[in-house]
Amino acid sequence: MAFFRLNTSLAACAFSLLLTLTAQTAYQERYRPQVHFSPRKHWTNDPNGLVYFKGEYHLFFQFNPFGDQWGHMSWGHAVSHDLLHWRQLPVAIAEMGNEMVFTGSVAVDRGNTTGFCVTGKPCLVAVYTGHRNVAGEVRQTQNLAYSLDQGRTWTRYAANPVLDLHMADFRDPSVSWDEREGHWLMAVSLPKEHKVRFYASPDLKTWTQLSDFGPAGDVDGDWECPDLLRVPGEKQTPELWMLKIGLNPGAPQGGSGEQYFLGGFDGKRFVPFTQPGSHGWTNYGKDDYCAISFNNLPRGQQPVLIGWMNNWQYASKLPTSPWRGQMSIPRRLSIIEDSEGLRVRQQPITAPLRTAHRAIRQSEATQIPGIHKAPFEVDLHFPHASESSFGVRVYTDEEHWTEIGFDRDKREIYLDRRHSGKAISQEFPSRTTAPLAQNRDYDIRLIVDRSSIEAFAQNGTIAMTHLIFPWSQRNRLKLFSASGKPPAVTGDTWELRSIWR
Ligand code: FRU
Repeated sequence: MAFFRLNTSLAACAFSLLLTLTAQTAYQERYRPQVHFSPRKHWTNDPNGLVYFKGEYHLFFQFNPFGDQWGHMSWGHAVSHDLLHWRQLPVAIAEMGNEMVFTGSVAVDRGNTTGFCVTGKPCLVAVYTGHRNVAGEVRQTQNLAYSLDQGRTWTRYAANPVLDLHMADFRDPSVSWDEREGHWLMAVSLPKEHKVRFYASPDLKTWTQLSDFGPAGDVDGDWECPDLLRVPGEKQTPELWMLKIGLNPGAPQGGSGEQYFLGGFDGKRFVPFTQPGSHGWTNYGKDDYCAISFNNLPRGQQPVLIGWMNNWQYASKLPTSPWRGQMSIPRRLSIIEDSEGLRVRQQPITAPLRTAHRAIRQSEATQIPGIHKAPFEVDLHFPHASESSFGVRVYTDEEHWTEIGFDRDKREIYLDRRHSGKAISQEFPSRTTAPLAQNRDYDIRLIVDRSSIEAFAQNGTIAMTHLIFPWSQRNRLKLFSASGKPPAVTGDTWELRSIWR
């Protein structure tokens, strides 16, 4: 009997070791994203401190090192050479005492303006929000930490905080080097006041207030995670400034969402334009929040944005284990201007993962061949958009599908996940819409992973990101239209290689 007990406990031990190993190395659990970053285990929310430095893209992220619910917020860390294949490293900046490490950014200090670097060797400086709760009284301040070894280990600045307004809500600094002015620039949020405050600094330590932006646009929730960036224009369009602001709750899609303003920044003040398209949503789906752009990208590279693919409405309920939370696919940004006005264009980065290409040439069939299981990518063009509504359904079985379509009568593009699988909360089943621009191309690009669908329509001017939790991972793609006749389509399909080699 004792022998049997020993044997079973040995077997249990071996089994749990195997489970731990597979959980840590295989990335093959149910719903485990195959082309999107997710931590090996535990909770993540916002991406933090996106920066390119010495050949590596760094992704820091809000992370609970102890469990799969929000708490003990620290900065997790992963690095990549191509923005797709990530290697998770040990926690970068851990919660300390009663101070959690909230969202922020990382700057490359080239000129040793901080005095933290070894002279002549640029180093990384993190600017993050410290969140303290002392006897029920919350205080958020801006703080520094630096790394002399490519982000592997971090030292907190002894004289933290560097900005303290004695407020409970003052967070998410986005810091970049302003070349024109020759100083550091910070955009930081006053969430309850619906303001983004701009500061300047010569050394990241002493900050001078420049101006406030807001309230403006949508103010139905807290303003969080601002990001101010320069976005190049396509063709004759000049480079513009974009100010992106997270809104939670109260986004039009429900819960968390992200609005942007296009405008000018004179070194002190952001002034939004008024022409059509100057104000919009970086994502019209429910699951892209607190996206930020990379600092220090090589010259000539378009800005790259990564967001948290989730929504605070149900983030704690995702049916995934041993991790909870994942990032959006990285996208390159540009501005286009046409008869419909201005627009931010987002181009997802997937090319290095593409394989098993198939071209669809003027197909009149309903089913698109070659699609079997996620992850895959599809790019569809509808050259003769004459029907009142048409689009594509991604089926996982006869009763479950996600529908992405154009409704010309209602002038909207929509993504409907009401039949896509598990409804993990009351707010989960949803159909979100975006305004359809009648004069832009009718096209849809889909990136389908094991627990998400990211849709980019009308030349990337509309992005819609949704989590889905299908019952099966088998996929079929079918076209539909109001008349029942499949719409004419051209395009391409690819299988996507998993990023977890
Ligand atoms: C947004 C946010 C940030 C904050 C962080 C805390 O998702 O609420 O404003 O810094 O998450 O984890």
